[in-house]
Amino acid sequence: MKVLGAHVLITGGSSGIGLACARLAVGRGARVSLMARRPDVLDEAAGSVRSPGAQVAVAAADVADDAQVGAAVATLTDALGPVDIAICSAGQTRPGYFEELDAAWFRQLMDVNYFGTVNVVRAVAPSMIERRRGSIVGVSSAAGLVGVYGYSAYCPTKFAVRGLLEALRAELAPYGVHVGCSFPPDTDTPQLADEEQYKPRETKAISGTIKPLSAERVARNILDGIEKERFAIIPDVQTRGLAKLAGVVPGLVSGVMDRQAKKARGRGQ
Ligand SMILES: NC(=O)c1ccc[n+]([C@@H]2O[C@H](COP(=O)([O-])OP(=O)(O)OC[C@H]3O[C@@H](n4cnc5c(N)ncnc54)[C@H](OP(=O)(O)O)[C@@H]3O)[C@@H](O)[C@H]2O)c1
Repeated sequence: MKVLGAHVLITGGSSGIGLACARLAVGRGARVSLMARRPDVLDEAAGSVRSPGAQVAVAAADVADDAQVGAAVATLTDALGPVDIAICSAGQTRPGYFEELDAAWFRQLMDVNYFGTVNVVRAVAPSMIERRRGSIVGVSSAAGLVGVYGYSAYCPTKFAVRGLLEALRAELAPYGVHVGCSFPPDTDTPQLADEEQYKPRETKAISGTIKPLSAERVARNILDGIEKERFAIIPDVQTRGLAKLAGVVPGLVSGVMDRQAKKARGRGQ
């Protein structure tokens, strides 16, 4: 689906990967709307992506709340017309040892990452089905391909996003609606900087082997994935390899990560 001339809705559009998608979509000639919780940060983000003649709208909503999402989508549809492309990038993470993580995190991350995607899809899909056009992309993660040490609260939410989108791809294809799933590895964003303080040393050892991608590179891959109507949208060779290996020989991938974790424990860092 062409980005040019489309109304592109981006949740989490005020920061990181979502903000980079917004900037790129404006550059490719889209009408862009942004959804996130903090109105001041949203306004600032909209100001930073606006260029002369570009149409950019914002609506504050917590994606975990279906009523707020419904109201925000209605406001944005009034402003810019029906949503043609939805990029669900709003998300949170909290690494930590399973036994030390507060139980509330398991529910909160599922509410925001998984139900936050479900709520947006429910709000935009009916009009896409009716109009026989549209594209929906959710942002999962490399941690939605394999379970990673220290991410027991986060990985399940990203596996759930992937499962939702795999099922939806098949259901919406007959209506001409594209569904895709983005699997970024570590990406240089405020979220990555923030989670660093909570990572167990084993997690640091595993992710320390990966150089974070830029948010712009991940965003370009997402918009290209939409234009080429791909399902699996993966920005780098290493994660593409991980996706293949994890699908065919999952024991190999977990074996490598187990050795990295054991070494980090041995070093006592
Ligand atoms: N960075 C990485 O290494 C990485 C890797 C793989 C996947 N991802 C995924 O990529 C997506 C974007 O992450 P990012 O790194 O760009 O994070 P980020 O820079 O922290 O941006 C997160 C965005 O989501 C919004 N948000 C958070 N909770 C929300 C809620 N309940 N309702 C509505 N909006 C909410 C934030 O705005 P407000 O706080 O104002 O609501 C912000 O706009 C996430 O789904 C993340 O899990 C990130």
